[in-house]
Amino acid sequence: MTRRILVTSALPYANGPIHIGHLVEYIQTDIWVRAMRLFGHDVLYLCADDAHGAPIMLRAEAEGITPEALVERIGAEHRADFAGFGVGFDNYYTTHSDENRQLAEDIFTRLSAAGHIVRYGVTRHFDPLKNMFLADRFIRGECPRCGAADQYGDSCEACGATYAPTDLKNPRSALSGAEPVLKESEHYFFRLRDFADLLADWTRAGHLQTEVANKIAEWFEAGLADWDISRDAPYFGFRVPGSENQYFYVWLDAPIGYLASLWDWLNRREGRTVTLDEVRAFWSEREVRHFIGKDILYFHALFWPAMLHGAGYTKPAAVNAHGFLTVDGQKMSKSRGTFIQARSWLDHLPPEPLRYYFAAKLGAGIDDIDLNLDDFVARVNSDLVGKLVNIAARTAGFIEKRFDGRLAATLPQPALFDQFVAAGADIAAAYEGREYARALREVMALADRANEYIAGEAPWTLVKDPARLDDAHGVCTQALNLFRLLMVYLKPVLPQMAARVETLFDAPLEWEARRQPLLDRPVAPYSALATRIDAKAISALLESGRAA
Ligand code: 2FM
Ligand code: ZN
Repeated sequence: MTRRILVTSALPYANGPIHIGHLVEYIQTDIWVRAMRLFGHDVLYLCADDAHGAPIMLRAEAEGITPEALVERIGAEHRADFAGFGVGFDNYYTTHSDENRQLAEDIFTRLSAAGHIVRYGVTRHFDPLKNMFLADRFIRGECPRCGAADQYGDSCEACGATYAPTDLKNPRSALSGAEPVLKESEHYFFRLRDFADLLADWTRAGHLQTEVANKIAEWFEAGLADWDISRDAPYFGFRVPGSENQYFYVWLDAPIGYLASLWDWLNRREGRTVTLDEVRAFWSEREVRHFIGKDILYFHALFWPAMLHGAGYTKPAAVNAHGFLTVDGQKMSKSRGTFIQARSWLDHLPPEPLRYYFAAKLGAGIDDIDLNLDDFVARVNSDLVGKLVNIAARTAGFIEKRFDGRLAATLPQPALFDQFVAAGADIAAAYEGREYARALREVMALADRANEYIAGEAPWTLVKDPARLDDAHGVCTQALNLFRLLMVYLKPVLPQMAARVETLFDAPLEWEARRQPLLDRPVAPYSALATRIDAKAISALLESGRAA
């Protein structure tokens, strides 16, 4: 049965470039989307820039441009970076859009009408020199739990504690260095506890990974506090309806950006402005699956389903969290050059090996994954070039030069071919379960068998014997058909290489059609499908990172 699925990746902030840490998520999601499409499902993949908030406002100010101009420029860079890595969104929008404003107002108004929004005075840090309230991120001080110095106002990087900025010891404004003063302001709050029962059920109903559901159970025990959803002017965002100086906190309208991207996509598809009711209806008819990092679970597994439910929207079918990226076993670091931007990667190296490597490391859990650069070079060269491409490289040339560029009419070993076809069931299940490492292990085990087959038959010897030319033709035909099956299995991970293989055989790599071997038909002249990675390119990449 064809499933109708709506997939999202988290919306990156429009205040900085995409780096390889981000790419883990977009590549993970893109592979899933491509795999599910390959299996015949109807998948819509949406994303957008997360354009609001104080950091973006302040950065624009520092650059002497408007926040609108900044988010426009960064949005274009993000799109180009994602495209460079083959991340194929159906739509990439922005939270700073009229659709998002209408949706945020609609959701807020519905929540408010249902009694889930309350308003009361709070005491917040105010920078007397900058004359503005300070976002949590712009207050630094000592962690109230472990005492670590120079921590952000909302959470401690040393011990992981989360707290209110008023709990910080010795707070300082990161903007002016001034000691912040405490000042009163009336904010809006979302009463998360109204949804306690609903969330207790929803978080245990199979929408989350087990380890995530367990973590959330701890948050329940800590109690569901009111969520402060507004910020004082000046702020780059949407004004709260009916308020003079309160703006929606960036995290209120960020996930709503998923819906805004859907709305924009629907408008384009229909060639007219569709109504908000149509957007809501479309959303409710889809299996909605969010891919996110484990750091933003609270927003996606508690606030977001509660907001959706309270405002009459369907809750997501799944929130899939992943871990962070380390490089050579450590946090990405500017001084080591491992804080690698997507663009500089593309300046030095091809994108698909990184897709392959991340996939080879990714499972369905929230463990961090490591990009070990030596292992990356070794693995790509041995798996992709040494094993996979080698199958075609050793056999396609004979077809071209000795057999008139045509495949033989029969396979010498149809049972071997059928075994490769049958392996597809497990590989498909692994992709669907986000067990990409397992999928690729299975594919590489098949590649080993294909290479053993070729080595055993030695077509390079057979072609020298006129009496055995037909055998040579059969072996090369068999090998190329096995190779083609492996490329069907790798198509979600290596879309560019898959496209070249489609050209080679002049036939699309399709799931059901994979069961039929290609026989008695032409093959295009072979040209290299992948080349070895030179370790020097990695050194140059790190060098450029250190220099930046
Ligand atoms: O953590 C982040 O980078 C946020 N910009 C993610 C937002 S995801 C969604 F809610 F918009
Ligand atoms: Zn701490």
